[in-house]
Amino acid sequence: MTLTGQRIVVIGGSSGMGLATAHAAAAAGAVVTIASSSKERIDAALAELPDSCDAAALDVRDEAAVSGLFARVGELDHVVFTAGDRADRRTLEELPLDEARRIFDVRFWGAVAVAKHAAPRIRPGGSITLTSGTVGVRPVQGAALAAAGSAATEGLVRGLAVDLAPVRVNAVRSGAVRTPLWDAVPEPQRAAVLDDFARRALTKTVGKPQQIATAHLYLMENRFTTGTVLTVDGGLILTGN
Ligand SMILES: NC(=O)c1ccc[n+]([C@@H]2O[C@H](COP(=O)([O-])OP(=O)(O)OC[C@H]3O[C@@H](n4cnc5c(N)ncnc54)[C@H](OP(=O)(O)O)[C@@H]3O)[C@@H](O)[C@H]2O)c1
Repeated sequence: MTLTGQRIVVIGGSSGMGLATAHAAAAAGAVVTIASSSKERIDAALAELPDSCDAAALDVRDEAAVSGLFARVGELDHVVFTAGDRADRRTLEELPLDEARRIFDVRFWGAVAVAKHAAPRIRPGGSITLTSGTVGVRPVQGAALAAAGSAATEGLVRGLAVDLAPVRVNAVRSGAVRTPLWDAVPEPQRAAVLDDFARRALTKTVGKPQQIATAHLYLMENRFTTGTVLTVDGGLILTGN
């Protein structure tokens, strides 16, 4: 199956792995809409994408906005969800529970809202691809809530694959990938953290956004995949901390 002429929405498509996926899908002939919350980031991303792409400013925490986007898009073939806000680096002891709950708002509840409103409009053979991380199966120190969020997303994928069939639902479980997400970590810690991920990976590298995009294209194109979590991590989960 080819993506030529297919209608694809990338939520989180203004940056990092989502933007790489928008580029790759457009290059494969798809008609791509990117969405994320910041108008500036959306405009900057759209300026570097082919003219066939369009964009919408959308906060996935706003269910009415998510519903409105898919009503405007109409019938579509695939949704890729890579939206993720900056990680809260406070320890559990420092974090009031009300704020801890918000860690799930974009990555988990945003994905639920997108699946809910996209699924009824997805054409036969189409798919939804969510995002989890190796942190869910091999947490680093201080990442208990991130691990829980990632594991919850993988459970959601399996449940939705059953509930929404024949719409296919999968996830890419990403290892450390060099994207603007890491800009929140100041240098020189950022370089040290990424170097350490590279040292522990079997490939001795951190990932590139394009390597996640390749996985997204595979999950969109292969109509025999659903309920699957595809790990793309340079072998990180096989190694010790
Ligand atoms: N990079 C890694 O090493 C890594 C590893 C494992 C898992 N992950 C996960 O993979 C996902 C993508 O990461 P990335 O590295 O590509 O990050 P990124 O470059 O920071 O991109 C994140 C995207 O999410 C959008 N976003 C943030 N909050 C949003 C909201 N409320 N509503 C809609 N869109 C929103 C951002 O745009 P706006 O700012 O415009 O909203 C941006 O387009 C994240 O969930 C991340 O946790 C990343």
